[in-house]
Amino acid sequence: MRVTLPLLILAASSAHAAPFMAVNNGGVKAWDSGAVNDYIIHVSCNATEVHQLRKGLADAITLAAHARDHVLRWGNASEIYRRYFGNAASGEVVGNLEKIVSADKGSVLFRCDNPDGNCDIEGWAGHWRGANATGETVICPLSFTTRRYLEQICAFGFTVSGSKPNELFGSDLIHRLYHTPAIGEGHVEHFADSYEDVLELGKHNSTFAVRDSNTLQYFALDAYAYDIAVPGIGCAGNIIKSSPEQQRTTTSSQTSSLRPSTSTAPSSTVTQPPSSTFEVPEGCHTHEGGELHCA
Ligand SMILES: *[C@@H]1O[C@H](CO)[C@@H](O)[C@H](O)[C@H]1NC(C)=O
Ligand SMILES: *[C@@H]1O[C@H](CO)[C@@H](O)[C@H](O)[C@H]1NC(C)=O
Ligand SMILES: *[C@@H]1O[C@H](CO)[C@@H](O)[C@H](O)[C@H]1NC(C)=O
Ligand SMILES: *[C@@H]1O[C@H](CO)[C@@H](O)[C@H](O)[C@H]1NC(C)=O
Repeated sequence: MRVTLPLLILAASSAHAAPFMAVNNGGVKAWDSGAVNDYIIHVSCNATEVHQLRKGLADAITLAAHARDHVLRWGNASEIYRRYFGNAASGEVVGNLEKIVSADKGSVLFRCDNPDGNCDIEGWAGHWRGANATGETVICPLSFTTRRYLEQICAFGFTVSGSKPNELFGSDLIHRLYHTPAIGEGHVEHFADSYEDVLELGKHNSTFAVRDSNTLQYFALDAYAYDIAVPGIGCAGNIIKSSPEQQRTTTSSQTSSLRPSTSTAPSSTVTQPPSSTFEVPEGCHTHEGGELHCA
C-alpha cells in the first residue's frame, strides 16, 4: 500500500504518461480501441489471391511511406517533388500519402468475387464498387496474372513516364484506395489523366496536384525508383529527361514527340469494354484499360 499510492500519483501527474495506459483504466476504453490497422480481404479471395493481394497492399504502403518520407526529408528542395507539385506547400501531400499507410482500415474491403458482374467484361482487372458499396473494391482474376510487384519497378522496360502506374500492383492499389471514402475522403480525385497532364497540373495548378490521384502515384513511383530501386538514377523515362526549360516551352503538339518511342501501349489483353455490351453506370467513367471509376 505504501508503495503503490505514490506510484499512482506519479503516473497520473506526469505530462508525458498516457494515464489510462499507465494505471488501471477503470473500465474506460483506450482511445484507439477497435482500430483496424490492416486492409481487410474478403473470404471470396482464395489462398493464392490473398497472398498476392497482401503483397500488392504491402507494396502500396511501401510506396506511399517512402514518398511521404522523401517529402519530409526534402520538401520542395527535391526536384522530384517540384516536378509533380510545383510550388505547393508539402503538408497536404504528406497527409494524403500517410492516409494510405496509417488511416483506419476498418471500412475498406477488397473482394475477389464478382458482385457487380464487371469482371466478366474482357480486360477488366478490378473496379471500385461506387454507389453499390463505396468502401469496397473488387479485384478481378486478371489482376493476379498481370500486375507486377515493386521489386520489378525499373525492370522489363518500366519507366515512370512511359509506363502505366497500374502495371505495378502497388500503385494500382494506391489508385483504388483513393477511391474509397476512408482514404481519399472524396477529396483525392482525378484531375489529370496522362503523364503530360500530370506535369501540367503540377506546374500550373498545384492546389489540385496535391490531391490528384495520378499525381500522387507518379510521384511515389518516381521517388521510390530514384531513391531505392536504382539509387541516384531511377527510371524516369524520356519525358522527364527533357530539360525543365524544354518542358515549359513545349507546345501540346510537341509534347507527343517527347513520349518514349517504346511507350507501352495498353496490352492486347487490356482493352476498353465494348460500349455495345456495357453501359457505364451514371456517375461513372472508364479509364484507359477499361476500368470503371465512379464519382
Ligand atoms: C519552398 O519551401 C520553403 C519552406 O520550406 C518556402 O519558404 C519557399 O517559398 C518554397 N519555395 C517554393 C518555390 O515554393
Ligand atoms: C451496381 O450494381 C448495379 C446492379 O447490379 C450494376 O448495374 C452497376 O454496374 C453496379 N455499379 C458498379 C460501379 O459496379
Ligand atoms: C485462386 O484464383 C485464381 C484466379 O484468380 C486461380 O488462378 C488460382 O488457381 C486459385 N488458387 C487456388 C489455390 O485455388
Ligand atoms: C485547376 O484544376 C481544377 C480541376 O481540374 C479546375 O477546376 C480549376 O479550374 C483549375 N484551376 C486553374 C487555375 O487552372
